[in-house]
Amino acid sequence: MRKKILVIHGPNLNLLGVREPQVYGAQTLDAVNGEIMDLGRRLELDVDIFQSNHEGEIVETIQNARGRHHGLILNAAAYTHTSIAIRDAVALLDIPVVEVHLSNIYKREPFRHHSLLADVVTGQITGFGGRGYLLGIHALSGLI
Ligand code: DQA
Repeated sequence: MRKKILVIHGPNLNLLGVREPQVYGAQTLDAVNGEIMDLGRRLELDVDIFQSNHEGEIVETIQNARGRHHGLILNAAAYTHTSIAIRDAVALLDIPVVEVHLSNIYKREPFRHHSLLADVVTGQITGFGGRGYLLGIHALSGLI
């Protein structure tokens, strides 16, 4: 059976390429998603991608991954630092979850140093730009 993974991009990531390019890079979300889909094809994984600026939509999408997806790549963006609801949704999953950040959150403002997700995910990739998603998919493919 082909394995299926889910990639979730949180708030403001729809504006990748335009938003603070010195921090997040010049690549648009469409370009990042194109590379994700290419890698999925090469690794023979089915990939679903979802972006939302809304906490509740992200919670529901994580809940719906149960029984449907074999792994999750999650960049919860600013909700990483604030959302107990997203943390609780991740905690109820029994699939591997990779937390991804384009920027290195530990080199930035102190309020970004704490991730509410860090201790409920399988692992974290932070600071490698859009390539972090691809590294995360490689990590997942070895686990699922
Ligand atoms: C981010 C880091 C977060 O602190 C920030 O709020 C984001 C993006 C990243 O990918 O580097 O929106 O998750």
